Amino acid sequence: MAERRPRVWVSQPLFDDTVAQLAAYCDVVATPAVTAYDSAALAAHLSGADGALVTLNERIGAAEIADAPALKVVANIGVGYNNLDLAALSAAGIVATNTPDVLTETTADLGFALLMAAARRIVESDRWLREGNWGQWSFTTMLGADLHGSTLGILGMGRIGQAIARRGHHGFGMKVLYHNRSRLPQETERDVGARYAGFDELLSSADHLLLVLPYTAQNHHVIDAAALAKMKPTATLVNIARGGIVDELALAGALAGGRLASAALDVYENEPAVRPELLALRNIVLTPHIGSASLATRRAMVQVAVDNLLAGLGIGADAGRPANALNAIAGGKTEKR
Ligand code: DGY
Repeated sequence: MAERRPRVWVSQPLFDDTVAQLAAYCDVVATPAVTAYDSAALAAHLSGADGALVTLNERIGAAEIADAPALKVVANIGVGYNNLDLAALSAAGIVATNTPDVLTETTADLGFALLMAAARRIVESDRWLREGNWGQWSFTTMLGADLHGSTLGILGMGRIGQAIARRGHHGFGMKVLYHNRSRLPQETERDVGARYAGFDELLSSADHLLLVLPYTAQNHHVIDAAALAKMKPTATLVNIARGGIVDELALAGALAGGRLASAALDVYENEPAVRPELLALRNIVLTPHIGSASLATRRAMVQVAVDNLLAGLGIGADAGRPANALNAIAGGKTEKR
């Protein structure tokens, strides 16, 4: 008798050839339109699946996998994985994977683009011009802050933080300070041109502060009113990590009150909802979580996720343990249940 083909659920529309690749080995349930799932809908989709290809939108924990006895692998398309409850997945013998490396440079590019846009008031200038406000060239129109020669602070010094440091140091002649859970080896510090600083020193010295740290319960609102008060009033704050790292109301207050010059956010506490207090401000650039959104990088991310998924299902050339497993599973799924 022919062996049963694994069933794979793809949570959001991806590239057509992604589904075709999976369909060569698996029965695929693809999702034709961008969809928001509640917990019950996620549980229903996962209940029949052996594998799932998901995005940061899908929050998967104990409740969502309670009735998914065949599920072996959840392949997240993204480097951040705070949408996955790794403890719950591990306890159920389900491998979780992510897509590091391939999005590093693209995300660093966006961090820099947002920094330049906010510090040099590019979006604000565009809006002002379109609104018909440009009567005559003036010396004092849209004065902003320089990047070259300034001090760039980076909070979180993983791959993306290091790629940003390189851009700042080698490209813009910036002095680069970073704060991280652990210090980088001296050779890496030299290579990216960055010096380690304490958290408070980072806040008070940075002309521009970029947030690139992973989101965990420990760093929820690490940038709160007290942290913002330690920053220079002329500074720029950019968040390309996760929304929960910044207290958005405190940020809106600081920007409105002139205690911080400008900011740019690509991520929000309650995506896709953006607080009206932020939307009302002119000195903030807001983008819809597009850090890794170049066509080439999104294709590369999907390919890594597909490879992870197939490996986790024991299919194809890399059958076995996926290269990007985030959790350690003792024993195989079938032995465990
Ligand atoms: C990630 O990979 O974590 C990004 O936020 C998604 O583009």
